[in-house]
Amino acid sequence: MKKILILVFLATFAITEAQGLITNVSNRNTTSLNGVWNYIVDPYETGYYSFHHDEYDKQKKPSNAAFFNNYHAVNKQELVEYDFDKSPQINIPGDWNSQVPELKFYEGNVWFRKSFDYDLKASKRLFIYLGAINYKADVYLNGKKLGTHEGGFTPFNYEITAIVKPKDNYLVIKADNTRHKEDVPTINTDWWNYGGITRDILLIEENESFVEDYNIQLKKGNQNLISGFIKINNFNSSQDQAIISIPELKINYKLKIGTDGIGNFEIPVKKISYWSPENPKLYEVTIDFKEQKLRDAIGFRTIETQEDKILLNGKPIFLRGISIHEENAKGGRAHTAEDALRLLNWAKELGCNYVRLAHYPHNENIIRLADQLGLMVWEEIPVYWTVEFENNKTYQNAENQLTAAITRDKNRASIIIWSMANETPVSDARNTFIKNLVAHTKSIDNSRLVSAALLTRHVNGVGMIDDEIGKSLDIIAFNQYLGWYGGNLENAEKAFWETPYNKPVIVSEFGGGAKQGLHGEKNERWTEEYQEYLYIQNLKMIEKIPHLSGLSPWILVDFRSPKRLLPGIQDGYNRKGLISNEGFKKKAFFVMKEWYEKKGKE
Ligand code: GCU
Repeated sequence: MKKILILVFLATFAITEAQGLITNVSNRNTTSLNGVWNYIVDPYETGYYSFHHDEYDKQKKPSNAAFFNNYHAVNKQELVEYDFDKSPQINIPGDWNSQVPELKFYEGNVWFRKSFDYDLKASKRLFIYLGAINYKADVYLNGKKLGTHEGGFTPFNYEITAIVKPKDNYLVIKADNTRHKEDVPTINTDWWNYGGITRDILLIEENESFVEDYNIQLKKGNQNLISGFIKINNFNSSQDQAIISIPELKINYKLKIGTDGIGNFEIPVKKISYWSPENPKLYEVTIDFKEQKLRDAIGFRTIETQEDKILLNGKPIFLRGISIHEENAKGGRAHTAEDALRLLNWAKELGCNYVRLAHYPHNENIIRLADQLGLMVWEEIPVYWTVEFENNKTYQNAENQLTAAITRDKNRASIIIWSMANETPVSDARNTFIKNLVAHTKSIDNSRLVSAALLTRHVNGVGMIDDEIGKSLDIIAFNQYLGWYGGNLENAEKAFWETPYNKPVIVSEFGGGAKQGLHGEKNERWTEEYQEYLYIQNLKMIEKIPHLSGLSPWILVDFRSPKRLLPGIQDGYNRKGLISNEGFKKKAFFVMKEWYEKKGKE
């Protein structure tokens, strides 16, 4: 009885307290709730507010009109004006825009409901893990509010031990993709505002005490020291130890856990096969804690800068990259392993050793695949263009998204750069905002490099890469669009760039649009020949940029954007892809491929 009481207290406590993010969920004891869910489109939030706009979930007496109660009329007289059972169905995970034609442009609230049974043994605990919901989510189980989450591209979880029943549980989620100025991103973006439950929904069953999170990587700047921590959720017996095993490295390390549930370690290792694009070596790592055995595949490498060079495992490396949006072949939010394979296989075919995953944290499938394929990764949070830099709520939102991305992906060798922002206008408030994000990043992960995609200016015809925030960044990345948003392609070779920074410089974006299959003269905008010539000329100029250490042209594949409206050419797509959204390569693809082939042999 005592144990159950403790569990009930714990679970209740857990729901009210922010639950730490559970990591490496794909290797845990999970039950997927993916599949067919019922949904209700609710533009007036009728299921959330009373007619006087009082929030149902703040009322003492539960209201049958609140959609999260999943109520059904008990007799012929009773008034109930919704019914999930009779509502349409949708595949989850999956955005609503690309699944329901009437919702292609919909921005607002949609309710989702999934019923499930679960037989939870008394000694076990149960959590619900939500991979990503764009943009804001209110989550309920059996009519009880689990919490509210903001941020469309990072995971979160809640404990449901005390609420789940053996039969007929109903999970109800209100997703709202309405844009707001104070959000992250703000109201203006050059990508489609895909709404809904866009990544996996899993139930995770754990023991009373379990390994919630861990970091196992090489210590910064030390190629022979594996260091990190193990974090135990509900650590309650000082005798319990964790064992970290890496058989191939002959590591079987017993770790004492502190009273705070954290165990820190440093394990010297003589010989390691370091992870790299040429050798994407992943080691099988096992963490044993009481009855729990948690497996992961982890690569070990060092990444640092030395003056204007990027050093991978102590050797200079040039980043042959491409920018990628998270979109699938159906023109919706990508989330599956197959979607990841489609995108990263094209990047490999292009000759890349690096990808810029723009402009938000992508799903975990593509990050783990990059680990396996040997593609270094730039991961970014959507501090995009003009977020409200003076707004503390906006900053906290950005920091929360950054923390979740780093927590989820910190054991992935492929990630070498955390990006704080994209094309933000210079101001004191913006500098403070980004400097604080940099400091926060370094405080939770000092092993990787930080950057941001910056804008430049021209002084007397010379391109100045001198954004003052560069002082706080390890890598100076900038976007430039010679030949698309201005400038003269003919004289590209005469275009010069300068920077005051003796740091690695990356061209994080350049490119131009082409409608695949449209042919004409090289000076005819939107033809494949124009895009091809733009790449040829830009590359001649880029080769002369001081401290050049990499590039990630914009962009691998045409992608949906509500801002790209030219009929017959854009039709709601940004056409800067080297590949069309139908999957056909354009002529510029082969220009870039040839350039990377040469670069790779240098
Ligand atoms: C900007 C921005 C991209 C955008 C691109 C474009 O630099 O970073 O998100 O899609 O340029 O204009 O196509």
